[in-house]
Amino acid sequence: MRGNGSDRLSRVALIGTGLVGSSYAFALMNQGIANELIMIDLNQEKAQGDVIDLNHGKAFTANPTLIKFGTYQDCTNVDLVVICAGANQKPGETRLDLVEKNLKIFKEIVGEVMASGFDGIFLVATNPVDILTYATWKFSGLPKERVIGSGTILDTARFRYLLGDYFNVAPKNVHAYIIGEHGDSELPVYSSAYIGTIPIMKFIERHEKYKKEDLDDIFIRVRDAAYEIIKSKGATYYGIAMGLVRITKAIFSNENSILTVSAHVDGLYGQDNVYIGVPAVINRNGIRELMELDLNEEEKEKFANSANVLKKILAPHFD
Ligand code: LAC
Repeated sequence: MRGNGSDRLSRVALIGTGLVGSSYAFALMNQGIANELIMIDLNQEKAQGDVIDLNHGKAFTANPTLIKFGTYQDCTNVDLVVICAGANQKPGETRLDLVEKNLKIFKEIVGEVMASGFDGIFLVATNPVDILTYATWKFSGLPKERVIGSGTILDTARFRYLLGDYFNVAPKNVHAYIIGEHGDSELPVYSSAYIGTIPIMKFIERHEKYKKEDLDDIFIRVRDAAYEIIKSKGATYYGIAMGLVRITKAIFSNENSILTVSAHVDGLYGQDNVYIGVPAVINRNGIRELMELDLNEEEKEKFANSANVLKKILAPHFD
C-alpha cells in the first residue's frame, strides 16, 4: 500500500525543475505519495542531475518513488502534470508583471503536454498563478475540474501559521482562509475564522491581551510575505512546494479535503469565468465542488475587486 493509502498507481510529470519544481520533487519523494515522478525541463542536464541526486536518497524513503528524467511525450499516461516552469518574480516585481512572458511559455508547454495524449489533472504553480491556471484551462480544453492552481493555499498556510503564533495554538487548529488573487488583492475571511471551534472575534473578546487591530497587521504580513522572502533570499520555494505536495496528496489519496486553490468560479459571490483562490473540495478527480463561505459585505466587495483585477489582466488575452 502506498503512502497515499491507495493501490492505484499515482504518476506525476513535473515540468520545470528550478527552485520550486526541485523543492516539490524533494518534498514529494520524502512524503512518498507518488509511485512515479517524471522530471521535465528545457535545461535537460539540470533535470537529469536532479534525477540522479534525488535517486541517491531513495534508500532513505519509506515509500520509494520511481524518479526519472523525461520529455513531454512521457506525459501520455501520467495522472497529474505539475507546472512550475516560467519566469519568477525579481525583487520589486509583482506576480502580475510576469503575465506576458509566462503566457507565451504556457501556450507552448500545455500544447506539448496535450499532444502527448495527456488526459489527467493539471496543477499550476507558476505566477501569476490565477491567470496561468485560466490559460492552462483554455489551452488544454480539459474540464475546469481537472485544471487546478496552487491559488492561495500558501497564503492560507502563512495566515494559519501567523495566527497560530499570535494566539499560541498549533496552525492546524486555526481555521481561517485567505481567498482571492494569489497576490496583492487577496483578502482574509475573518467572518468565517475559528480558533478551534471558537469564532476568532469571540476568542479575542475573551482574552484581554489580544487586539482586533493586530489581525490587520497579521494579514499584511501574509500578503507581503513573498516580497520579504524574495528580498532576503531571491526567491520563495519551500512553502509553495509543500503546498503543491499537499494538493497532490489530496488528489492521490482521494481525500475530499478542503483547500484554498485557484479554481474556476461560475457565479460564486457574483463572479464568473475567472480562476481565483477559493476553498474547494479536492479528490482523485480534481475539484469536486467549491465551498461557498458566508462572506460579509466588506469581504464580498474585496473578493469582487480581486476578481476584477484578474479579469482585467485576462481580457486582452482571452475573449
Ligand atoms: C509565494 C509565491 C509562490 O507567494 O508566489 O511565495
